[in-house]
Amino acid sequence: MQSIWEKEVRMPSFPCLDGDRKTDVLIIGGGIAGILCAHFLKKCGVEYCLVEANRLGSGTTGHTTAKITAQHGFVYHEIAGRYGLEAARQYYVANQDAIEKYGELCKEIDCNWERRDNYVYSVKNREKAEREMKVLERIGAKARLEECIPLPFATRGAVCFPDQAQMHPLKFLAELVKGLRIYENTKVTGFGGCTGAGARVVFTNHGRIVAKTIIIATHFPMLNKHGSYFMKLYQHRSYVLALKGAGSLPGMYVDEDKKGCSFRNAGEYLLFGSGGHRTGKNGGSYTELRSAAERFYPEAMEVCGFATQDCMSLDGIPYIGRYAKHCENVFVATGFNKWGMTSSMVAAMLLSDLIQGKKNEYEKLFSPSRSMLTGQLAINLAESTMNLLSFSKKRCPHLGCALKWNKEEHSWDCPCHGSRFSETGKVLDNPANGDLK
Ligand code: FES
Repeated sequence: MQSIWEKEVRMPSFPCLDGDRKTDVLIIGGGIAGILCAHFLKKCGVEYCLVEANRLGSGTTGHTTAKITAQHGFVYHEIAGRYGLEAARQYYVANQDAIEKYGELCKEIDCNWERRDNYVYSVKNREKAEREMKVLERIGAKARLEECIPLPFATRGAVCFPDQAQMHPLKFLAELVKGLRIYENTKVTGFGGCTGAGARVVFTNHGRIVAKTIIIATHFPMLNKHGSYFMKLYQHRSYVLALKGAGSLPGMYVDEDKKGCSFRNAGEYLLFGSGGHRTGKNGGSYTELRSAAERFYPEAMEVCGFATQDCMSLDGIPYIGRYAKHCENVFVATGFNKWGMTSSMVAAMLLSDLIQGKKNEYEKLFSPSRSMLTGQLAINLAESTMNLLSFSKKRCPHLGCALKWNKEEHSWDCPCHGSRFSETGKVLDNPANGDLK
């Protein structure tokens, strides 16, 4: 279903590739991460081109709630526990810098940019909010604990990050893409070997591109052989309603529990989200979301509903950097854990530095080659094993897991890594790279 953003803005269109090309940097994926990379590389005078298999912004970017914040759930306590306080501080600063960079760009772009406070609340567990706050104080973050927030149910406290932001993601992108070298409806079909000069050949449905460096910004990374992304990512689906007549909230709000509710205003609408679940698993969905909306906002009218899904990393930190240890000159940006707006900006700033051979202090923190040993890895492996061994005639073309019928959205969904297919077998979400046979 079309999101509220897609109903309001038509993205500019670009031609498809028309024959073979050579470039220094090839960006694969025309979501906000890929487009921001293209923008920064152009500013630095690096030769690049971007290819998108469909239309720009047609994936997760067109279905985001577009909250721009350094507060990604209660992640700081987790990061400090796993990697230390300095890593938590770096995560905070990298994301705050990303917000400031958006602020600079949005001075020139009319995209409903608004500074708003962001709140992460807990419905059941005050201790979680308190321990998150303790870490934030220790790393010098601007944050405060709030007792009461204006939501239609009670909470046990919320952590507030002041002066974060929200915007219209497609109004922003529609301006940013002007003048960029982009080919739409150009699908990468394979990767060849290196040429003499260390450049790689990439095959598309409209010609070959020879590139010295490749950025893979395709939501779920498309190279299966390297990097073990099929073990270190899973996908989480979320649902949003745009409600008219639901009143106005001063800030942006989200539950620390991934299955909880999310709120922000967009003009006269309230964007109300809930019903999240691992893709391919039962639970939540529009039924839960609509029943919550009726309970909390009985007077409101539903203007539209839309869903999206996000790649979730093993430790709550995105994977941004070199694709894999032995994968020369291939970079990736993925695993944004539902915070794709801010993480995409972090990715574009970091990758444009690495590609130009500059040092970036956040390289180690976001490195995709960091340790995979987490509880989530065990869950991902168990889920994959169970679904590989399950009997089902419908098998996923990615790595062969059994597909599950999603009766709410009439799609075949894969619980292993989140590929989705329409009733007639057309691929809707990657990593699968083709339709069902
Ligand atoms: Fe990987 Fe289905 S998405 S097996």
